[in-house]
Amino acid sequence: MIETNHFIEHELERHQHDEITRIRNASFPDCCHQRSYHKQLPHFRILATVAGDIVGHLGIDHRMIRVGDSAISIFGIIDLCVDIDSRAQGIGSKLLTRAHDMAMRHNVDFLLLMASDHRLYKKNGFLSVNDVCSWLRIDDHRNYGVAVETIHAEMMAKAVNKSEWPNGPIDLLGYMF
Ligand SMILES: CC(C)(COP(=O)(O)OP(=O)(O)OC[C@H]1O[C@@H](n2cnc3c(N)ncnc32)[C@H](O)[C@@H]1OP(=O)(O)O)[C@@H](O)C(=O)NCCC(=O)NCCS
Repeated sequence: MIETNHFIEHELERHQHDEITRIRNASFPDCCHQRSYHKQLPHFRILATVAGDIVGHLGIDHRMIRVGDSAISIFGIIDLCVDIDSRAQGIGSKLLTRAHDMAMRHNVDFLLLMASDHRLYKKNGFLSVNDVCSWLRIDDHRNYGVAVETIHAEMMAKAVNKSEWPNGPIDLLGYMF
């Protein structure tokens, strides 16, 4: 049976970081690291397990961002990945559902993520968001200042406790997920 649970970042154990690192590196071969995150530690993780073994992961950055004249709260979804042998069994969708349920319970306005392949996210109720976006460029524990670029259909949002994504430029008030 597939279970999903959340873990506060500083409470994760070494073996959990190691398993996340393994699944993450297998899933994102172009950006492998000897650590369980790419740019920055997330605030918490949602892990999918089968008989205690980790088979799926997503990180969450809980953040305020600005869109036009509105300040909105988001769960930014980072490094969603499922073990290669466990894909196409609904685990990715279960992880997104768990993130949505937590956002709903804790009054978070939107889920937000970056994706070049939209299939999983459209299936799970996400919509594309296009506008000028600013964010802090981070690479390998160094910041390279603020980027300001038009995002074309890579950013996707799902409304949770707000009904509509506001109009206007997006300031992520931090790094890009
Ligand atoms: C994307 C991913 C997390 C999906 O996990 P999963 O457990 O197989 O997801 P589900 O079983 O809930 O849904 C499967 C559906 O996801 C979609 N999908 C498959 N690969 C995908 C991808 N790389 N990105 C987006 N959607 C994808 C397909 O529509 C698939 O349905 P199909 O099997 O009928 O074609 C998994 O394929 C993965 O880890 N890929 C490598 C890492 C990655 O690309 N992560 C997304 C970063 S934005």
